[in-house]
Amino acid sequence: MLPMHAHRRQFLQFLAASPLFAQDPLKLATAGDALSVNDFESLANKMLPPAHWGYMASGVDDNRTYQANIDGFKHFQLKPRRMIDVTNVDMRTEVFGRTWDSPIFLCPVGGQRMFHQQGELAVARAAKAKKHVQVLSSVTSYAVEDVAKELGEPPWYQLYMPLTWDATEKLVRRVEAAGCTTMAWTVDLLAGRNTETAERFRRMDTRDCNSCHVTPPQRAMYKGLPPDFNPPGANWETLDKLRKLTKMKLLIKGLDSGEDARLAVEHGVDGIVVSNHGGRALETGRGTIEALGEVVDAVGRQVPVFIDGGFRRGTDIYKALAIGAKGVGIGRPYIWGLTSFGQAGVEKVLEILRAELARTMRQCGTTTIAQITRDRIIRTGA
Ligand code: FNR
Repeated sequence: MLPMHAHRRQFLQFLAASPLFAQDPLKLATAGDALSVNDFESLANKMLPPAHWGYMASGVDDNRTYQANIDGFKHFQLKPRRMIDVTNVDMRTEVFGRTWDSPIFLCPVGGQRMFHQQGELAVARAAKAKKHVQVLSSVTSYAVEDVAKELGEPPWYQLYMPLTWDATEKLVRRVEAAGCTTMAWTVDLLAGRNTETAERFRRMDTRDCNSCHVTPPQRAMYKGLPPDFNPPGANWETLDKLRKLTKMKLLIKGLDSGEDARLAVEHGVDGIVVSNHGGRALETGRGTIEALGEVVDAVGRQVPVFIDGGFRRGTDIYKALAIGAKGVGIGRPYIWGLTSFGQAGVEKVLEILRAELARTMRQCGTTTIAQITRDRIIRTGA
């Protein structure tokens, strides 16, 4: 066990590593004033009460996997080609027979009313306006049916599996009835976690949490169902059962090895999301960008491979596309935008990342997604 002062030092190191302290934050009067998605982070930090900020910003234990996600991109450099006509850039991507305007999607993030009164509804409006796929968390503050209305179509749905099979069936049937075509089962939290930094922030919060939070939590998607989820006994047979239960496209979210990716495909998934829950599950794991290559090599020809974790710049997205990702998810960045300016903030985050990706594509001499191949990046040793 580390002495208390060592824990405090690690906590302060986590704070110091944040972009908040690396740059003079801009004063944002409107979402349009932001220059990069990180500008929203500073504002969100100021606006949120410590408990909510800590819950969103942190990882687990000493936040090393969280940091590894961000640091991972430094291990890859871009190799541009010049003298190519880059007047027109086309970011369109085909996913499950549909054309996305760009490869960027919005990751499932639970309880978004904690960040803005309109929560997932505001995000749905932004996703609709900017034409991005929204993946709705099982622990959404607003029900899937209401989010679908704002989005203009059913969102993709993220499943936290209830503890009983009966409840799982009911939840899946409700999601199908809402018209969802794609479901991602998150499997990286089945073993529990230690959200220590979040707890430190919570203790700094002087408000009475019981005035807002009730026990057991009233979750929009678990009404009439037992409130607990993430069965630790789940295994590949559970995936077989889920596969048989639904005809929706089934993704598995939270894999970071080629071995598991291969097994998942053998067990019938339609796609893989390489993810470590934004560093919020296992500590001292690899950054997801580091794990992506082996997953793509294992199954990339058979099913689409998606990724999330630490994407803050268009260059980050470009690197994942070069390694072979079909789509790239963002979590915290759009939550910073949501916190700061609601729908307009989420829209601006998407605009910034799209503009950065388009610029990177031009600079590298790749005008379509298909042209972004592995020879456009170099892996450095460090
Ligand atoms: C998450 N994530 C998440 N994942 C999931 O499958 N279901 C969920 O309910 C949540 N909830 C959640 C809450 C908060 C506050 C965060 C920050 C993240 C993980 C999310 O889908 C995604 O994997 C990461 O957020 C991606 O990393 P970045 O972009 O946040 O670095």
